[in-house]
Amino acid sequence: MPTDAPPRPVQIAPSVLPADFAKLGDECRALADAGVDRIQWDVMDGQFVPNLTFGPDVIAACRSSVDLLFEAHLMVNTPEVLLPRYVEAGCELVIVHAESTVHLHRCLGQVRDAGGRAAVALNPSTPVSAIEHVLDLVEMVLVMTVNPGFGGQAYIATMEPKLAELRRLVVERGLDVDIEVDGGIGPDTIAGATAAGANVLVAGSSLYRDPEGLAHAVADLRARAEAAQRGVAAA
Ligand code: DX5
Repeated sequence: MPTDAPPRPVQIAPSVLPADFAKLGDECRALADAGVDRIQWDVMDGQFVPNLTFGPDVIAACRSSVDLLFEAHLMVNTPEVLLPRYVEAGCELVIVHAESTVHLHRCLGQVRDAGGRAAVALNPSTPVSAIEHVLDLVEMVLVMTVNPGFGGQAYIATMEPKLAELRRLVVERGLDVDIEVDGGIGPDTIAGATAAGANVLVAGSSLYRDPEGLAHAVADLRARAEAAQRGVAAA
């Protein structure tokens, strides 16, 4: 069984949480022009997390704005209820929180049955062991590096050993699975997350905070992540 594998391609996935909600289509186009690889929609129901954001119709209204992959990060209770609607809205990838449903294995199968691609997310306190029996159903695992609900929070660096554990598991099993991080990702934290094993990097506030604009922020984060991968590779 392989003990290591080549780094997976770095993907920069902006969260539109900090974007101007009055012009989300334009904001998606600006992100595409800035060179992002996909767009993440932070779907929140005010129950699973103390915030309320996008329904499927809002995402559907933006679908034709760009050709980028849309991923729906479902921070909701009972994800089974609406997940087909997010696929119909144009989210190719649907991320289900392991903590949000009693029947996670069935729910991930429902994503695939609805025509979507499945991914699973772990809150900071949830161990990797919670998803070891569903890794065959997903193309990505999201390791939250903040407690979900709001942008602009501080990165939880103690998630890096968890990322490394997950990366080892994925490599040992020879799985074609991306590892995504979300929360507090910026110039000062992206290298640690990438070196620990993440290759899909969600950033919200750090992109919109860059005084040199979105394109600079995206290029800078990508360069830092790829340098961290090279550093690990050279180790
Ligand atoms: C948390 C949200 C945030 C957002 C990105 O529920 O999922 O992580 O996407 O936030 P920042 O501003 O930390 O990049």
